[in-house]
This record gives sequence, structure tokens and C-alpha cells, in this order.
Amino acid sequence: METAKATMLLWSGWWLFGVSLFVFVVVTVARRSGWLTRKPKYTYPPVCKGLPFLGSALEFGKNPLEFLQSCRKQYGDVFTVVLPGRRMTFIFASTEQVRKYFFNGPSSLISFTAGVEPFTCRIFGMSKKDFSLAHRSLLTTLRSELGAKNIPQLAHRLINYYLDNFRSLWGKKNERDASELLLKTLSDASLRVVFGDEFANASPSLLNDFVVFDEWFELAATPLLPHFLLRPFVTSRRRLLDTIAANWKYTKNAPIYKLTEAYGNEGNVPSLLFTALWATWSNASSASFWTLIYILADEKVKYKVLAEVEKASPLLLSSKTELSAEWIFSNLPYVSYCVSETLRLCASVVDIRKVLADMEFGEFTIRQGDYLCISPAVAHREDSMFSQSENFVPDRFQKQGAHPNAVFDKDLFTFGGGFYKCPGQLFAMVELVLFIALAFYLYDIQLVDPVPKLKETQAVGIKKPSASCRIYYQWKRRLAGME
Ligand code: HEM
Repeated sequence: METAKATMLLWSGWWLFGVSLFVFVVVTVARRSGWLTRKPKYTYPPVCKGLPFLGSALEFGKNPLEFLQSCRKQYGDVFTVVLPGRRMTFIFASTEQVRKYFFNGPSSLISFTAGVEPFTCRIFGMSKKDFSLAHRSLLTTLRSELGAKNIPQLAHRLINYYLDNFRSLWGKKNERDASELLLKTLSDASLRVVFGDEFANASPSLLNDFVVFDEWFELAATPLLPHFLLRPFVTSRRRLLDTIAANWKYTKNAPIYKLTEAYGNEGNVPSLLFTALWATWSNASSASFWTLIYILADEKVKYKVLAEVEKASPLLLSSKTELSAEWIFSNLPYVSYCVSETLRLCASVVDIRKVLADMEFGEFTIRQGDYLCISPAVAHREDSMFSQSENFVPDRFQKQGAHPNAVFDKDLFTFGGGFYKCPGQLFAMVELVLFIALAFYLYDIQLVDPVPKLKETQAVGIKKPSASCRIYYQWKRRLAGME
């Protein structure tokens, strides 16, 4: 018995010695060859925890801005948000890095066209092939039609349509929901300028259908969600496409007609103009709403605006003034700062590109097929970049100068950037600055309701208000035709 025990002990001793020796040899060889210390080839960004199938859809859908801010605290400056049918990898970096990697990244790695395809094709009905072939020339055409050389003529036309709308829509005095009133005022003027009078007159139902379409837009862009479940969206889209198909030939004398010529494919022209209509309308009226409301909510800001428009508006209204972009921004600098500051605060939560091949970003590899995303809304709330970042402080742009290029080509991402930057940027700025100047020159305006919050659930585009907000206005000056 004793001998058997001794033999077992001896064997287990040898066995332990053998195993330890083996482990020692393997670890030493692995260390020497760098096998244990080498980083894995691919380090993918952390993925935000979510639910099976739904990923982070519920949290992201409830309040995308807050969700991204909390993910950033938890996971750092690069992380992936998984939604049904879509992986979105967010990067947060200095403005220089964002411009270098996101807006001006190599076209072999990052694509704007593929990034917006779910919208241009699934929502607006453009053919994938036609769109990617024509995209660059469409963009160049629109940029030139709405560019600096045409601004004097476009600005005079905008002013005339604003005056028409002050007469017919606003009247002498009233209490109205500001969002609805400004939507009608700006949409009518921009439609008449960009698409032409004849098209606007032939399409009276356009705005009502557009409002329904726009309300459902984000939900309809969700991958895997069948559109037949979204009846109001399908109906309004059909009606919009039918109206555009019936009337687009009336755009012949308007800037947008050049786009149809550049496209050269009659079959898909309605979808193309539908995309352009959405771009023209979807952001500008919300931007005008917030600029007006923020100015009204701050007596000091309002006082400065009034002083400036009193001085500049007689010249603005003179047919002799050449209304170049430089003239407008240098004669209305403070109003321009107010518009830029609004566009900082209300910017889109998400801007998007598609990753075409695995790409390196810092220590991470971002996967081919992911959507690469930045968040203008989060970036614009960096306290290190913008002191009192949640407050409306128009003076913060004074150092940079009133021309929008000085602001939007540097610190703000509201209009995107790189080759695919919004082609309507200059036109939109002129549209907003002129509207604010004329409204405050012609009317005494006061807030009736408290300033509403930004709509929390919205992820794309200039934020809409979460509640209605009434203004009371009374004319200060007589407009011809307004007795
Ligand atoms: C406050 C108003 C506006 C804002 C904030 C805005 C913002 C943007 C942004 C962020 C993009 C995408 C750029 C990128 O991701 O790099 C874009 C694209 C575009 N915008 Fe604007 N925009 C505004 C007004 C306008 C207006 C008034 C027009 C036309 C009259 C317009 C026409 C377009 C078009 C056609 C595109 C698509 C360009 C493409 O497909 O490459 N936008 N806009």
C-alpha cells in the first residue's frame, strides 16, 4: 500500500514538472516571437450595447443627441451604433481631422453618394446607377446656378416675394403660430425663385403634401421597414411625384431647369426635382423660425438687430442696390451672426458617408459597409470650442467675419463640407438674412409663448420645434397694397 502511494506521488510529481516545463517553453517562444505582445490586426471600434435584432434603435430613436452624448462618455470618441439593417460608426475629432478624414477622405474609401443612396433611391425613387453617374455634374450645376454670380438677381426676387407674402399672408397685425407662418412665407418665396413662378402657380397642393411627407421622412428612411405600413408617407410621396411630373416643364425659365438639362434623362426627372425640392424646403423654414424666436427671446440681441436693419433696409429695398452676397453680409453683419448662431445650435444630429473599404482611423479599423457618421449637433456643443455652448450668443462669430464661408468652412458643420458640401449654402444664408431683416424692418414682433424645445426625436436636418410658438406682430411701415 505504502509502495503504491509512493509510486503515485512520484508520477504526479513528474507529471506536474512536465506540464510546467511545457507551459514555460510555449510562453517563452511566444514572447520571443512577439505572438503574445502583438496587437490583433483589426481593432474595431466598441459597439454600443443594444437589444437583439433592434440594436440601439429605441434609445437612438427617442433622443439621438442625448444618446450619442452618453455613448461618447461611455465608449470614447469612436464607437459603433447598431440599428436594424445599419451599422453607424461615429467619429468625434478636431474640426481639422473631421474635414480631413470625413469630408475630404479619399473617394476609394468614403462615399457621399453611397451614403445618401438610401434616401435618394428608396425615398425619392432615383435609380441608383443614374444617380451615381450624374451626381457630380448635378452638384456642379446647382452650385453655379445658386452661386455668388447669380445672388444679386436671386436676392431681388426673394425680396419681392417676401413683400408679396407680407401683404397677403401676414397682413397688418395678427397673432399666429410662427412655425406655420414662416413655413408658408419662406417656402413660397424659395419655390418661386428656384423653381419659377409658373411651376409654383401650377402646383398649389405641393406644400401641404410636402409637410405630410416630411413628417414621415425619417421613419421611411429606416431600412427594413416596409413602406406599405406608412400610408400617409406613400400617399403624399405619390402626390408630390405626380405634381412634379405634370408640371416640371414649367420650370423652363428657372434656375432648377439647368439641373434637368444636366441630368439628360427625362424618365427620372420628377425624382431628381423631388430631391431638389426637399433640399430647398426641408431646412430653411425651421432655420428662419429659430432665428426669429431666439432674437425675440433676448432683448439685447433684438435691440442690436433693430438698429442694424433700420440702417440697412432702405438700401436693401432700393432697386438700385446691387445685392451681392458681400453687400448683404457686410451691411447686415449682426443678422448674419444671428443666423449662423442659430445654425450652430439647431444643426443636424447626424451627417453620413459610406465606408467602401476597411479604413484606419486612429487606433481603429472601420469596417467596409459601415456608415461613417459625424454629429454636427454634438460637435457644436463642445464647450472647448464654443463657450456657453447651449446659449444663443451671436457675437461669438464677430472675430471670423460675417461671410458664411468664414464660419461654415471652419468651425461649423451645418452645411457639410468637402466636394459634397450643400450647394445651396450661400442661397440659404441670403434667404434667411433677407427674411429676418425685412420682418424686423416692417413689423413690431413679440413672442406670445415661451421658446419651445428642439424636437428631441429628429436625427436628420435642422431641428424642428417640439411645440407651437405664437408671435404677435403689427406693422411699423406701410407697404404698397396694404391699406
Ligand atoms: C438652412 C438651410 C440648409 C441647410 C442647413 C442645408 C444643409 C445641407 C447638408 C448638411 C447637406 C449635405 C452635405 C454634406 O453632408 O456634406 C446638404 C445637401 C444639399 N443641399 Fe442643402 N441645406 C440648406 C439649404 C439648402 C437650399 C436652400 C438648397 C437649394 C436651394 C439646398 C440644396 C442642397 C442639395 C441639392 C444637396 C444635395 C447635394 C448632393 O447631393 O451632393 N440646401 N444641405
